[in-house]
Amino acid sequence: MKKIRDLLSKKTDRRSFFLDENLVEYIEESSTATDQVQRSLIEETSTLGWVSRMQISHDQGNFLTMLVKATQAQFAVEVGTFTGYSALAIARGLPADAKLLCCDISEDWTDIARRHWREAGVEDKIDLVLAPALETLDELPLTQNIDFAFIDADKKNYINYYESILSRLSENGLIVVDNVLWSGRVVDANANDHDTIAIREFNEHIRNDARVSCSMLSIGDGVSVIQKI
Ligand SMILES: C[S@@+](CC[C@H](N)C(=O)[O-])C[C@H]1O[C@@H](n2cnc3c(N)ncnc32)[C@H](O)[C@@H]1O
Repeated sequence: MKKIRDLLSKKTDRRSFFLDENLVEYIEESSTATDQVQRSLIEETSTLGWVSRMQISHDQGNFLTMLVKATQAQFAVEVGTFTGYSALAIARGLPADAKLLCCDISEDWTDIARRHWREAGVEDKIDLVLAPALETLDELPLTQNIDFAFIDADKKNYINYYESILSRLSENGLIVVDNVLWSGRVVDANANDHDTIAIREFNEHIRNDARVSCSMLSIGDGVSVIQKI
């Protein structure tokens, strides 16, 4: 039991829940390495304590950049910005004239993000709105095409964020959703806290949604990639 706990805590530190330490290390070494700005952002975020676990993993960041590039997105949305690591990854995949709308409610955490975006030279691509994300999304005109979206905020609103974004999603657009495996608790019959239930309900909502196809991946804490059929 202790061994499992130790392993879990190590994995938790690395924000990758479904692989052992050796494989996580191997994947990191075999993927494009972090640059100086990313390392500085990871380091500064780690000084915040346990909340630093909210930051996506480096392999997820690489994956986001590639997906954004592949979709040639002109307008992207992020729900849940924190200290800006995922936004940096998305912004780096966007062409120079494209925009990323970031939604968050924390001035302190997003101040760290802004500094690093400036350092990385992507700040002109990013509009950050500090307000409940559902308000920000619902204020977007229905004619505003969203080419790429990343959902990574309060779990109870996942379905609302998804529906608001889907109604504006462009034909070849992608919605990427984080934490869909919730450290494995989605399949733990004893886990019945609000967030676990919200994630299960979200996954079921997608499973029953005939408008979209979904690929659920075990990267990081579980990521679903969703596209209109
Ligand atoms: C898991 S963190 C995001 C991590 C981020 N994607 C990254 O890679 O570093 C969740 C964020 O959602 C924000 N948040 C929580 N509830 C929110 C709401 N109702 N509207 C907007 N942002 C919210 C929190 O302030 C927090 O920064």
